[in-house]
Formats: sequence, C-alpha cells, structure tokens
Amino acid sequence: METTIYHADHADQIKAAAALLNQGELVAFPTETVYGLGADATNETAVGKVYQAKGRPSDNPLIVTVSSVAMVERFAQPLTEQVKQLIAKFWPGSLTIVLPLQPNALAKVVTGGLSTAAFRMPASQATLSLIETAGVPIVGPSANTSGKPSPTLAEHVYHDLKGKIAGILDDGPTTVGVESTIIDMSVDVPTILRPGAVTVAELEAVIGDVKADHHHVGKNEIPKAPGMKYKHYAPSAQVEIVDSVDDFKAAMTWAGQQAGTVGLMATDGQLAQLTIPANVEVYSLGADVASATHRLFAGLRHFDTESEVAYILTAGFANEGLGAAYMNRLDKSAGGMHFTNEQ
Ligand code: TXA
Ligand code: MG
Repeated sequence: METTIYHADHADQIKAAAALLNQGELVAFPTETVYGLGADATNETAVGKVYQAKGRPSDNPLIVTVSSVAMVERFAQPLTEQVKQLIAKFWPGSLTIVLPLQPNALAKVVTGGLSTAAFRMPASQATLSLIETAGVPIVGPSANTSGKPSPTLAEHVYHDLKGKIAGILDDGPTTVGVESTIIDMSVDVPTILRPGAVTVAELEAVIGDVKADHHHVGKNEIPKAPGMKYKHYAPSAQVEIVDSVDDFKAAMTWAGQQAGTVGLMATDGQLAQLTIPANVEVYSLGADVASATHRLFAGLRHFDTESEVAYILTAGFANEGLGAAYMNRLDKSAGGMHFTNEQ
C-alpha cells in the first residue's frame, strides 16, 4: 500500500484524509502530544487494522479521539459536573478522560470489552477539522510500532508504518512530546492512570483530590523482569537513567572505556559541566524538563535509527509535575535501569 503524506495547512488535503477514514482506511494524525494512528471508531473492520499495523495486543483498549463534546455524549453516559469542569478547563488539550459508556455504544475492538472508554480532544486544529469532516470519532493510539518510542514527527510515523497505512497528516513536530494524562472518572475517586502534561496539581485545582495510581520505579528498586514488564518506548540499545551530575561524570569515565559509541542525552547545563570522551555522541535535551520531554522520544529514535550505540545514558528529573510524565516514559524505555558508579 502506498502511504500518502497530506499537509495540514491545506484544507483540501484534510478533506482527502477524512475521505480515507470514511472508506475504512488508516490515517495517522498530529496532536500536541504525539502522532496518533486514526481509524473510524464506529467501523470495527477499520479499528481491527490498527492493531495489525502497530503489532499491538488487541486486549489493550484504544483512545477515542473527538472534535466536540456532543460527540462524547453520543457514546458516554450523561456527563457529571466534575467531568464537565475538566472538559471546560483542559479541552482541547492533553487530558484523556475515562467515562462509563451507554450500553453497546462502541465495539469490543475499541474498548477491549470494558464498559468504559477513554475520550480525548487534542489541541490540534488540523485534527479537529479532520474528525469534524469525517463526522465520526477516530481511535488514536500512538502511531508507532508497538514497543517503540512514540512518534513526535510525521517522519517517525513514516519510518514505522510506511506501506501499512493509507495516509499521514503532517503538521510538523508535536509540542509536548509525551502522551496525554489519563484520568479515570468512571470510579468513585478520580484516578490518574498515566501521567502527562496535565499535572496532578492542575487537576486537583479543578476537582479536588485525585489518586495517582501509576508507579515510579525508584533508583534502588530492581524491576522483577527488566526489559520484559517494562519494555516499552524502547530502542534497541540499553537505556540507562543518570540521576545527578556526579553520576554523569562517573558515566563519562565508564563510557570512555567502552569499545563502541555511547549515546548521551543530557541538558545543556549538564553538558557544560562534563568532559565528553571522543566515542560519546551527544543529543541535547535542551534547557529544562519541558524541552527534555519534547525531545525524549526523538532522541531515543535518533540513536536507534541514525546511529548504532549499545548504551544511551539519559538524564533523570525530579518525579513531580511534568517530570512525572517524563520519568514514567524514561523508566519504561530503560526497563528501570539506572547508571551506577560500580558499573
Ligand atoms: O496523547 C495521547 O493520548 C496519544 C495521542 C495520539 O492522542 N494517544 C495514546 O494512545 O497514547 P495509546 O493507545 O497509545 O494509549 C492509550 C492508553 C492505553 O494505555 C490504554 O490501556 C488506556 O489508554 N485506555 C484506553 N481505554 C481505556 C479504558 N476504558 N480504561 C482505562 N484505560 C484505557
Ligand atoms: Mg502508545
């Protein structure tokens, strides 16, 4: 199958991409977080193709991407006051909301057989027009091969899925860089299932106490099955988290003794304090946690596809605010591995 690139700044190209969705084809779309893989959420055959293209286990439910609140109300139970407040504050934006569904509102292939679904309205004018034009919500898992870092450029999508999908709507680089925050509003206490750019503090300012369910793997905690349970967002090289400038200095000594090239992902401030050995290739994470989150997946992909390294040493951040989203993804890429002095 030929994979056509459509340009988001041309209305007729958005129309052409929407027509493909209506024909049951797959079209990747831009969002502010990462690129998604779109299919008509009301067409079971089309949704089935998404799992095939990504190589994703089909028991993992998909996000339903909408362009209006009315589209959510077609499928979900009546919205509560708290849900309305979240929508008013954070949509369009990086918050996905799990809601109870009307009976048989969406196919099992979308929900994995659950009585709930995860709804999201992304902050991308191009994608909102795409969905509006198609007239149906679209499922939207990240548009990468399952297990690989999520795509933050149309080129990443093309690399993973060319020949397997009908089109890609290209709107340049995404701004946030990691997937949306997921909050479960179908349970008694609102619960965060995945950290993202919308933080716990921002959510609590709107609806009061929320529970954060996700688990951060600490420095001295050995995951039971490294590279198995946590293998996600993972390049072929071993990713290791580096927790401080002192650890980076030790890591540079260690790296200088390695036979091959070692990848290094650190902030400009950290890089300025390091002596970089000749066999170390640098990918800057920019100034702070926001630029690091924006560049994390692109950096991992860079070392995976353009450069052959066995190790990628990557800066850790404090596990709070946007840092919680960054560390959640980095932990999974690294299988929980931290660089230690004894290495
Ligand atoms: O930023 C994002 O959310 C991106 C962009 C493309 O919109 N999409 C994305 O989708 O990250 P995906 O499929 O990679 O992640 C969806 C997550 C999965 O971990 C899935 O298990 C969870 O949402 N999920 C979906 N439906 C759910 C439900 N009813 N209850 C709980 N979790 C659900
Ligand atoms: Mg994903």
